[in-house]
Amino acid sequence: MMNYKKALVTGGAGFIGAHLTEKLHQNNIEVLVVDNLLTGKKENLLSLDLENTIYGDVGSEETLKIIKNFNPDVCFHLAAQSSVVISVEDPLLDFEHNLLQPVQLIKTLLETDCKQFIFTSSGGTIFGEPEVIPTSEDDYAGEPASPYGLAKKKLNELIEVMLQNETMSYSILNLSNVYGPRQDPHGEAGVMSIFTGKLMNNETPTIYGDGKQTRDYIYVLDVVDALIKSAETDDNLFLNIGTGVETSVNELVSILSQKISWDGEPEYAPKREGELLRSVLNNERAKSQIGWEPKYTLDTGLDELISWFSK
Ligand SMILES: NC(=O)c1ccc[n+]([C@@H]2O[C@H](COP(=O)([O-])OP(=O)(O)OC[C@H]3O[C@@H](n4cnc5c(N)ncnc54)[C@H](O)[C@@H]3O)[C@@H](O)[C@H]2O)c1
Repeated sequence: MMNYKKALVTGGAGFIGAHLTEKLHQNNIEVLVVDNLLTGKKENLLSLDLENTIYGDVGSEETLKIIKNFNPDVCFHLAAQSSVVISVEDPLLDFEHNLLQPVQLIKTLLETDCKQFIFTSSGGTIFGEPEVIPTSEDDYAGEPASPYGLAKKKLNELIEVMLQNETMSYSILNLSNVYGPRQDPHGEAGVMSIFTGKLMNNETPTIYGDGKQTRDYIYVLDVVDALIKSAETDDNLFLNIGTGVETSVNELVSILSQKISWDGEPEYAPKREGELLRSVLNNERAKSQIGWEPKYTLDTGLDELISWFSK
């Protein structure tokens, strides 16, 4: 249950953030959304008619002043430069949005009555190229291969250090590959939306590498559920949020082709630098510590996604 009144959602106009904001709003939580529209879209929030929305950087002086006045009970920090590829091209931009501004935010929240800081980290990058499959929370196999992964991992550590002796508790959720309605099919992330969009338009999808690379695809509403559940305890949490099910890109295209009745062949292009071979998360800790488990399978989640695309 949601036993708080006011929530700050950073990145609330983004893919996951808009679903979370919608859920909080439906439960009569007063939400302050902060989003600089780097990848977020105002239209994602249009139907909610929110009272408090700031379209600007979370770390700007002006935003931090408003956050302080708003005085949230809980902060869901989702704002991020969310593309691995862009982080490689422009590491400075990534560090600005994924490390510097979040630290400024945490410092400001420590001057408020905020009790919980909940952060969406990245289970697909922070562990390096995994040696243990499915990967659990302690299975680090080396440094992340991208500035994006490195910034996520460093922010995890900074959160732990900055909040270790504070009354504001933290939850760090290492998400696997999230998919669902509203994910940008034209973006860099979200292979699922890119493929679904292409096949539904009868266009040929491009697979980078041999397509045998695997990912752990989790439906966005399962992630929202994990975010909400992690705010129900004031314990500090470090949890993997994934399905534990490994699916190769070739399998994904084949399942989608069947569902959409597309009978073409995908195109293959050279493997992308820094892409992991296998990625799937062990979610046992989340099951035991917050009683969370995914409700959607790949089959039911894809049906939801396809029906959204059809509209
Ligand atoms: N989608 C995934 O598969 C996935 C996997 C692991 C982790 N995550 C993390 O989950 C969070 C949400 O991801 P998403 O998939 O919804 O991506 P998204 O790009 O749709 O959402 C991120 C939002 O943050 C906003 N933003 C960026 N920098 C900001 C700043 N400095 N101040 C204010 N707003 C800012 C963007 O405009 C965008 O709306 C991110 O932290 C992302 O790294 C996502």
